[in-house]
Amino acid sequence: MAKVLVTGGAGFIGSFLAHKLVANGDQVVIVDDLSMGKLENIADIKDQVTFYEHTVCDENFMHNLLNQGKFDYIYYLAAVSSVADSVARPWYTHQVNQESVVNTLEFIRTHHLPIKKLLFSSSAAVYGNAADFPKTEDSHVDPLTPYAIDKYAAERYTVDYGHLYGVPTVAVRFFNVYGPRQNPDSEYSGVLSIVTKCLKNKQPFTLYGDGRQTRDYVYVEDVVDALIKIATETNEPTVYNIANGNEQALIDVIHTYEDIAGMKLDIVQREARKGDIQKSKADVSKLKSIGFEPKWSLHDGLMNYWKYYSKH
Ligand code: UD1
Repeated sequence: MAKVLVTGGAGFIGSFLAHKLVANGDQVVIVDDLSMGKLENIADIKDQVTFYEHTVCDENFMHNLLNQGKFDYIYYLAAVSSVADSVARPWYTHQVNQESVVNTLEFIRTHHLPIKKLLFSSSAAVYGNAADFPKTEDSHVDPLTPYAIDKYAAERYTVDYGHLYGVPTVAVRFFNVYGPRQNPDSEYSGVLSIVTKCLKNKQPFTLYGDGRQTRDYVYVEDVVDALIKIATETNEPTVYNIANGNEQALIDVIHTYEDIAGMKLDIVQREARKGDIQKSKADVSKLKSIGFEPKWSLHDGLMNYWKYYSKH
């Protein structure tokens, strides 16, 4: 039984990870300030995890926890994941998205904490508008927002703490993760969470652009399996894309979803968003090289997503 810390464990991806770790018999500690996460995301495992409602920016709290916790694995998922928020409050989001990570790495280094792995979650946002296609982990980066800059910097620190000091680390770049519990409440929320909400509530959906823009959508359960495999079965301080490796046009995804839900989405078309990327696809050969295969097709992922919402 491993001792595992999940920062951001009440959030969308973090809560799925926490469920899986608990099911695997691990001893799980969650730190989440509930700024984006929700207690209801971890309600059914609340008796099996230790939960702290706390910010990762409080270094005294984090140092104490790291000292006492004797963690084998740390999944660093806590972040302000809204790009818009990082543009509005760059100094604040910098503390969460970068400084807290470096502070944790530094504490582990200087106190020689015998962790097995710290995994940091970065984002495909680091690629920005760089032209390489599909994106390999060695493609050019072009971080265009405070969010992307902090993710890139913290990811580099993470990998560097491995190379320079031998702290066992690894980083991942999430592409377009979707699934139940993703918060649909901001206009910058993941598009499939918004589509789900609009279908469910029979509300109009605003489609920015012609719908031909592509993304590499990956189901949250695949993401969690990839995270655990990368943390527990790799030894290089390096970075992995986490994606499906498929490129799907938004309008096709919407049509698939309409078939699954058995209803038509009321689409209101608007001009494309400024700075919107037209094509996105990951090269996932590095992920596959460690023996990972995504299990969820977009169709099956959407089916499960819809089933979940029909029940809740
Ligand atoms: C994602 C990230 C973003 C990051 C970017 C970098 C999410 C939620 N966003 O944006 O933080 O900077 O990758 O690669 O993961 N759309 C609509 N209607 C809506 C919402 C979205 O048509 O109501 C369109 C968008 O214009 C876009 C597509 O759907 O073309 C996907 O949008 P979104 O889910 O926000 O993801 P990314 O744009 O890939």
